[in-house]
Amino acid sequence: MKKGHTTIILAPLQGFTDVTYRNVFSDHFSGVDEAVAPFISTMGQMRLKPTRIKDVDPEQNKKLFVVPQILGNVAKDFIFLADHLYQIGHKKINWNLGCPHSKIAKKKRGSGLLMYPEKIDAFLDIVIPKISNSLSIKLRLGRKSKNEIFKVLPVLDKYPLDEIILHPRTGIQMYEGTSDHDAFGKALFNSRHKFTYNGDITDLNSFHAVQKKYPGIQRFMIGRGLLSNPFLAEKIKDIQVNKNQIERLKDFHDDLFESYQKIFSGPAHLTGRMKGFWSYLGPSFKESSKSLKNILKTNSIAKYQSMVEKFFKNNSGFIE
Ligand SMILES: Cc1cc2nc3c(=O)[nH]c(=O)nc-3n(C[C@H](O)[C@H](O)[C@H](O)COP(=O)(O)O)c2cc1C
Repeated sequence: MKKGHTTIILAPLQGFTDVTYRNVFSDHFSGVDEAVAPFISTMGQMRLKPTRIKDVDPEQNKKLFVVPQILGNVAKDFIFLADHLYQIGHKKINWNLGCPHSKIAKKKRGSGLLMYPEKIDAFLDIVIPKISNSLSIKLRLGRKSKNEIFKVLPVLDKYPLDEIILHPRTGIQMYEGTSDHDAFGKALFNSRHKFTYNGDITDLNSFHAVQKKYPGIQRFMIGRGLLSNPFLAEKIKDIQVNKNQIERLKDFHDDLFESYQKIFSGPAHLTGRMKGFWSYLGPSFKESSKSLKNILKTNSIAKYQSMVEKFFKNNSGFIE
């Protein structure tokens, strides 16, 4: 198997994989090669949201190569944001055509645009010649039907793209059901572009299933699987680290907590962010359920810290 060629990309998870998470993750774990940052929405009237731009500030993103992602459907606003990202140093950007949330989709953004291939065409026709960055697109199979993508792919074939990152579900599916590997293959077959696979890679088996079925695919984007098991990329690439896993996770947690403590002013913000982190990581411990519930219940920082201390003391095993 061509392990050396496998590229692993940390998926964008709004509210989770921000610059702080990406940097602390890189300090503690290996195997992840790149990341796509959670989306930045276009704003109109030549406005930028400084906090969102800060997330992709190249000065803060030296540890892990990051591609900013834009959510929007107005060409001139997209170009304005893309230009700004180019000026600060981003040669690559990603367009979000996958976001499943109905509030966003209703506005024909994210996966909501997949039902309108002619709008995608008109958008790219204006945007592509005007931006200096190269563009990749992250999408789903469709908004309502898995067949929508087959009207979108011929449109995408008309334009130069870095790659297509496909999460083979529909928007309305949200995260229900399983990623449709056959539909992924069909899409691959119907496009001239390079593809990255994304969806439900949670362990070696699910990684190998995709790799075996599509040996030409060398780029894999992983989101929830890495949040639940930060060792997953090391495992996939067979990178050996001789240190106790629980200790590594504790060190990772403590660094993350300390870093977020510097950013979030109120205790509810800080514990809220850390609880999000635990909601993915926690269930991967062998004896987690009661002590995890205790962490997820806390609102004060002191209580949170003592519950986490207890959790690590009482948990000696992590998923294989
Ligand atoms: C909480 C959450 C936030 C997400 N935010 C984004 C986002 O900002 N941009 C995006 O393209 N996808 C977003 N996604 C989708 C993921 O990037 C990814 O496509 C999806 O989780 C499937 O991959 P996985 O099974 O490896 O997690 C989000 C998913 C979750 C669960």
